[in-house]
Amino acid sequence: MPSKVIPVADWRSLSRDRPVPGLSGPIATPSGALTDTLARPLRDLRISVTDRCNFRCVYCMPKESFGKDHPFLPHSHLLTFEEIERLARVFVSHGVEKIRLTGGEPLLRKNLEYLIERLAQLRTVHGKPLDLTLTTNGSLLTRKAAALKAAGLTRLTVSLDALDDTLFRGINDVDFPVADVLAGIDAAREAGFASIKVNMVVKRGTNDQEIVPMARHFRDSGVVLRFIEYMDVGNSNGWRMDDVLPSADVVERISARFPLEAIAPGYRGETAARWRYVDGAGEIGVISSVTHAFCGDCTRARLSTEGKVYLCLFANQGYDLRALLRDPAISDAGLATAVARIWQGRGDQYSQQRSAAGAAQASGDAGSRHDTEAPRVEMSYIGG
Ligand code: GTP
Ligand code: 5AD
Ligand code: SF4
Ligand code: SF4
Repeated sequence: MPSKVIPVADWRSLSRDRPVPGLSGPIATPSGALTDTLARPLRDLRISVTDRCNFRCVYCMPKESFGKDHPFLPHSHLLTFEEIERLARVFVSHGVEKIRLTGGEPLLRKNLEYLIERLAQLRTVHGKPLDLTLTTNGSLLTRKAAALKAAGLTRLTVSLDALDDTLFRGINDVDFPVADVLAGIDAAREAGFASIKVNMVVKRGTNDQEIVPMARHFRDSGVVLRFIEYMDVGNSNGWRMDDVLPSADVVERISARFPLEAIAPGYRGETAARWRYVDGAGEIGVISSVTHAFCGDCTRARLSTEGKVYLCLFANQGYDLRALLRDPAISDAGLATAVARIWQGRGDQYSQQRSAAGAAQASGDAGSRHDTEAPRVEMSYIGG
């Protein structure tokens, strides 16, 4: 049980936005080559399209914090599709090549395929289509996969933490069956998605016994299974270092049954380290946010459902761009200048600093972090 749970309504009222810089200075003309204070380019934009979810995963939206009376954002607070598209265009002009739609559960946002259609029209500064993808819990895929493909979504990532039905129903805490998620993955395949990934968050003592069964299930299926170290994101999951099963152990456990060999990263800044089955049955990935932080190559900006830009998954302050979007006096050039100044001021490298400070210190009594730091953004608000 979490030793301390901060009601989630708290962090939104307690955290104050950072002032958006750069509006009075000279216009920053987008060159596609923006870098932050650590020379990291801006390449990925992760857009949360809703803070709602139909699951209540115990580590992400526990029912104690996200109950029936939880104040989700009212509709007027959400960016409209037009506003999202306008901002996405600005980010792309600064060098973004990949856009991931997240949530909450993004497929709960009505008519999402219209947004996808519009984003699919954008071209990178090199004239190429975007890598346009989405993270989903899979529950609505049987209904929506074909429309998503037709709208121009290029690939898909499905979260699934266990194959054991009883365990999975307990983790999602809404009694949702594994079979329906698997049917969703099949529907995505049938709809023509050539690249499908499955993300499994591994929590020691909760679902680590599912590692090898999951590997066995997705071997030879073309789906790339990725194992994610359980992170200390948000305020409500009562994280402890003891809950983390290091990726090295995941690789060891799978390799003992199905031998693996390391392969090169697919692109600079890839979150996952890739491994392939020696017998040719495909590949897996491990995402070691806790034991091997990858901040040095972090090219990701995050846009919340209500239009705030966060420069790190662990940030506790965002930059409110919605006010600018809704100000008739602000042109696209003004928006581009604001985004440039925000990224140029970025120095975030939370996971790296936490590792340097020693994981033990971060684990200790969960209270140490909560009592001394401002509440962080929740993962369900900002997307993974
Ligand atoms: P690909 O584009 O398919 O390589 O996906 P990705 O790994 O960039 O994105 P995805 O949403 O699949 O990320 C998987 C998990 O990695 C997330 O659920 C997070 O747990 C973790 N993760 C992703 N981005 C970051 C990040 O910037 N920082 C940290 N600490 N963890 C991240
Ligand atoms: N640690 C790691 N990953 C997490 N996710 C949610 N909470 C955590 C956490 N504490 C992941 C989910 C899903 C995505 C939305 O974020 O598993 O893949
Ligand atoms: Fe679970 Fe994803 Fe929903 Fe969070 S956003 S509760 S991890 S399905
Ligand atoms: Fe990027 Fe922050 Fe994650 Fe580091 S902790 S990889 S800076 S999002």
